[in-house]
Amino acid sequence: MPTSATPAGGRMQLQDGELLDTAEILPGQWLQTYRAPWLSAGARAGQFVHVRTPDWSGLVLRRPFSFNTIDRIRGEVSIHFRVTGKGTEGLARMRPGELLEMLGPLGRPFEVDPRTRHVLLVAGGLGVAGVRALAGEALEAGRRVALLFGAASATEVYPSSLLPDEVEYVVATDDGSLGHHGFVTELLPDYERWADQAFACGPAPMLAAVARLAAGRDARLGVARLGRKGGGRAFPQGSTQARRRAWLQVSMEQNMGCAVGACLGCVVMGTDGPQRVCREGPVFAADEIAWDTAP
Ligand code: FES
Repeated sequence: MPTSATPAGGRMQLQDGELLDTAEILPGQWLQTYRAPWLSAGARAGQFVHVRTPDWSGLVLRRPFSFNTIDRIRGEVSIHFRVTGKGTEGLARMRPGELLEMLGPLGRPFEVDPRTRHVLLVAGGLGVAGVRALAGEALEAGRRVALLFGAASATEVYPSSLLPDEVEYVVATDDGSLGHHGFVTELLPDYERWADQAFACGPAPMLAAVARLAAGRDARLGVARLGRKGGGRAFPQGSTQARRRAWLQVSMEQNMGCAVGACLGCVVMGTDGPQRVCREGPVFAADEIAWDTAP
């Protein structure tokens, strides 16, 4: 079984996962659970897996999926995806017992400061798949978690039954059919003082709006940056320590080719130059991204 080190320090492996459960949880959106103890053992929230999707045309299609949940005790991981083409159509047709070739864990995870007690998650649409695992990790560590979720309408709202009971779940819909009438970003001001750190995943305009808010947060609320009270040490941009001290981290969504840093097909512009979403990301501190050029 091929293995190699990942940027997060775990061992990347290429092996099969066995499909245990598959369900269409929203129109065109599927949740699948796989038995893959070799993967769950080292995976962290924010990382992803690259799968060879089933396709009967003979094409080899690989797709990246965030870990939706990671269960180390049961040796299981789940992915949440929308059917968008042949690869994901093939995935949705799979039945329990079938095997899927998976490469992972890949990419860098969310970094939570050890002092953080209140974790704010912000998700737009399928972006909930990018932060869902962090809700589980944060609760396990004894933190409080609030999830702000935005969708176009009630029919696309992530079911609360798929979240741990302890998560405070607040919904916004563009058409007002459920929860707050408006964008999910409009819910943020009510939580920015409560949250020690925030973690977001969703469409680029939503992430840019959250990043703009985060950039002005310290001055507006008169709060010190985590770890900088009394002249704390500055860590290099992009380092684990610097990310751990960022109030906002974002998980960037990008098309991927190789998913291991070789093809440059997933580059986004950062404030420090081009960044590979599959290697330097998919999680970044918000101030690492040049938002005016984001996809
Ligand atoms: S997908 Fe190839 S470098 Fe990121």
